[in-house]
Amino acid sequence: MQALTQIEQVRAAVKEWRQQGLTVGFVPTMGYLHQGHQSLIETAAKGNDKVVVSIFVNPMQFGPNEDFAQYPRDLQRDTQVCEQAGASLIFHPEPHELYPDGFCTHVDVAGLTEGLCGKTRPGHFRGVCTVVTKLLNIVQPDRAYFGQKDAQQFAVVRRMVRDLNMPVELIACPIIREPDGLAKSSRNTYLSTQERQAALVLYRALCEGRSQLQNGVRDANQLRAAMEQVIGAEPLAKLDYLELVDLQTLQPVTQLCGDTLVALAVYIGKTRLIDNFIYQGEQQ
Ligand code: PAF
Repeated sequence: MQALTQIEQVRAAVKEWRQQGLTVGFVPTMGYLHQGHQSLIETAAKGNDKVVVSIFVNPMQFGPNEDFAQYPRDLQRDTQVCEQAGASLIFHPEPHELYPDGFCTHVDVAGLTEGLCGKTRPGHFRGVCTVVTKLLNIVQPDRAYFGQKDAQQFAVVRRMVRDLNMPVELIACPIIREPDGLAKSSRNTYLSTQERQAALVLYRALCEGRSQLQNGVRDANQLRAAMEQVIGAEPLAKLDYLELVDLQTLQPVTQLCGDTLVALAVYIGKTRLIDNFIYQGEQQ
């Protein structure tokens, strides 16, 4: 497995594969890889001849008061994870390689980025879309793999790829959870032992939503109230948002009939965690 830091080196490696007629899968990450990332890389390795993994903590997608400096990093361990999961190449550029002096072009996806995480993290999706566009332009993969935990990110990137006619197939992979239900996230490392226990409230709230749906509830306000009650019962949790939105447009729904994203963000102490499930609506 190669580990490269320069854009031109990556382009040259991919060009060589292309000349041999090989297909290329791409997994963009910010490193500190966990089993969620591992499963993305494994899925990419099954579906493509070669797999590129990018490891880049993208400063542009962090707000001024967010955790960019603190974000966990461990390139040595990440390299092992990538190798074991079947990656062919790691691209881990320095910020200056992707954002040279005078960099002034951004990619904005309107509408889909204003609600949910976009409300608390203004500018976040502009940073995500800009870096994903750059990475897709550099790697030019056949397929790119994203985790469903960042459901809004996937919806936004899917719209960007469609709107800008980017020649790549996007694949969303299921959320990977700890045995007790907590969704895997690099940010879980911020949690104290007590907070780690409290963080289970996200999964409990989602399970409550699912069980209400199983009991036939379709009213969004009723579902939200039942889920919010679960969050409210956990003293260490502070709700950022809990939304039921159309899976394509990310606009709030009042009744669950079509495919709906049930998504939430919760502060556990200072750590902001997100989780979700997709309700597959009855055919209309
Ligand atoms: O999901 C992430 O880890 C990041 O947002 C991504 C897609 C790698 C862009 O920096």
